[in-house]
Amino acid sequence: MQPLVVSHPLAQCHLTEMRNASTPSHRFRRHLNLLGRMLFLEATRELSVEAIRVQTPLQETDGVTLARPMVLVPILRAGLGLLDGILSLVPDASVAHVGIKRNEETALPQPYYANLPPVITEADVFLLDPMLATGGSAVEAARQLKAAGAKHVTMLCVVSCPQGIATLSKAHPDVRIVTAAIDDSLNDCRYIVPGLGDAGDRYFGTL
Ligand code: PRP
Ligand code: URA
Repeated sequence: MQPLVVSHPLAQCHLTEMRNASTPSHRFRRHLNLLGRMLFLEATRELSVEAIRVQTPLQETDGVTLARPMVLVPILRAGLGLLDGILSLVPDASVAHVGIKRNEETALPQPYYANLPPVITEADVFLLDPMLATGGSAVEAARQLKAAGAKHVTMLCVVSCPQGIATLSKAHPDVRIVTAAIDDSLNDCRYIVPGLGDAGDRYFGTL
């Protein structure tokens, strides 16, 4: 499955502001929030719906409702930056959490928390993380989701790179990837280049 790259000009403007090292945390947060909404709108373009009838004040007419429940899963910490904007579009969605911290020296994922509700087994699940670098964190998160019974998983990430996409696609070929950019590569510290730096630190102001 090829990643969906959201090339909408407004999405690319938000991304450019986020890449800019001079953008302070409060503006970085705002751009991540808005870009997250745009990624989510593109990711859900083909979402399954069911036909229902609805009574307007004047008469009955046709309408639709989501065919499956929806679960949003931010990978702590930085994934939280995508959550609020998306939740404003789907206020009925459930929110699950997966906590994973990349080891600073090895870049291997270290899981430290998980809270995955039973509804995940029948839901459209959206895994949220601004960065797909080595892919280690996303592979581990998808593993946990599937172990909990998730079947329909989409990964939303702002910046990805070929290595992360290849690693996630090999481990979980059924997980769809939606991203605003596929950057060139990883540097020696396994940061995405050109990238946007450490997303969690920039979002939370902990640089
Ligand atoms: C960052 C990012 C991803 C991960 C990506 O989180 O938000 O979760 O690294 O790297 P990978 O693809 O090589 O696994 P980090 O581990 O720095 O934690 P944080 O969100 O708490 O800052
Ligand atoms: N985590 C980040 O926040 N940024 C990167 O470039 C890689 C991992």
